[in-house]
Amino acid sequence: MAVSNDIINNTIKPHGGELINRALEGQERETLIQQAQDFPSVTLNPWSLSDLELIGIGGFSPLTGFMGEADYNKVVEETHLANGLVWSIPITLPVDEAKADELNVGDRVALYGEDGELYGVLDLEEKFSYDKEKEAREVYGTTDDNHPGVKKVYEKGSIYLGGPVYLLNRPKHDEFSDYHYDPAETRQMFADLGWKTVVGFQTRNPVHRAHEYIQKSALEIVDGLLLNPLVGETKSDDIPADVRMESYQAILKNYFPENRTRLVIYPAAMRYAGPKEAILHATVRKNYGCTHFIVGRDHAGVGDYYGTYEAQELISQYEDELGIQILKFEHAFYCEVCGNMATAKTCPHDSSKHLHLSGTKVREKLRNGEPLPKEFSRPEVAEVLIKGLKEN
Ligand code: ADX
Repeated sequence: MAVSNDIINNTIKPHGGELINRALEGQERETLIQQAQDFPSVTLNPWSLSDLELIGIGGFSPLTGFMGEADYNKVVEETHLANGLVWSIPITLPVDEAKADELNVGDRVALYGEDGELYGVLDLEEKFSYDKEKEAREVYGTTDDNHPGVKKVYEKGSIYLGGPVYLLNRPKHDEFSDYHYDPAETRQMFADLGWKTVVGFQTRNPVHRAHEYIQKSALEIVDGLLLNPLVGETKSDDIPADVRMESYQAILKNYFPENRTRLVIYPAAMRYAGPKEAILHATVRKNYGCTHFIVGRDHAGVGDYYGTYEAQELISQYEDELGIQILKFEHAFYCEVCGNMATAKTCPHDSSKHLHLSGTKVREKLRNGEPLPKEFSRPEVAEVLIKGLKEN
């Protein structure tokens, strides 16, 4: 889809100044698809495939491919790309040593999915080994392999392939096609809606009352809300994306003004990297055209690996460089005495009067077949979740 530079520049500028588009179209695409039959190949797991897609559509602007060693080291050690732009999580393509040995720098490599579909091509510029423990420690803040993101680091191949990519076929998101927009398209969407300020909301959970509270608090000061749930790979006990998507539709339909919210999928894999992932999440939402981004309690956290406000503290250090405004919210709860949602900033009552909400608690209650109280979840959302989880 063609989007004028005016529109791209009208709102917030993409990270690095230019919205990257590595998705080939027309004759160029046809030709490369033909040629790729003769290229050596790599099969991407779902995580790498989602990274390829996000590079291709500009979600990871300014990246034009999988990181080479200079970017990788600088990102891991200093939270910046080699060109000096802030970037918090390495975007890399791992393969095992045997596969790396088959490939030569200078090769064009065909990138297939596990479904056998050709998705892209990599111009192989670099092969390099890396220190997994160091990556775990610096990016995830722990070397404990019980951490789901760290476990993935330890499981993946020990050589990274770096170089620019071309996206030839789009991974399918058929079940979410109504909510599937690229960054160029969301930018156009915001311009069409007349939204000058847009707050992005990342989630991997159904929207509970605390989420709704912070979203609506943000909506009091900006023009629109981009509800942008992550639908790529998550850990197995997270609620499946299709059930979540239905629950988002239910809450938006019943509790939000239609002209002030849009639901769009974020097709990335979840890293659970807490503070560092909060920075990535904000960077990507800037590329989608958001001017503001919400970071609440334990953003992108898992278990007890990160402090409640560690993500907010880290992202504060980079906020000026990121150029997207971070809206930081304290832990929100339902207060029985106030009779509404609140935080320690707005409620004077004792914590015994507070009902604490989290995605983990919602999942626990659903798993145990317990009803979700209305202070926890809107009834329309609870209904979708109970039904959806029975069917799964
Ligand atoms: S995340 O892994 O995608 O960050 P989740 O879907 O639970 O997890 O959170 C989405 C956003 O809401 C994050 O910014 C998170 O910090 C925030 N959040 C979740 N629960 C609360 C809460 N009770 N109070 C304040 N912020 C919250």
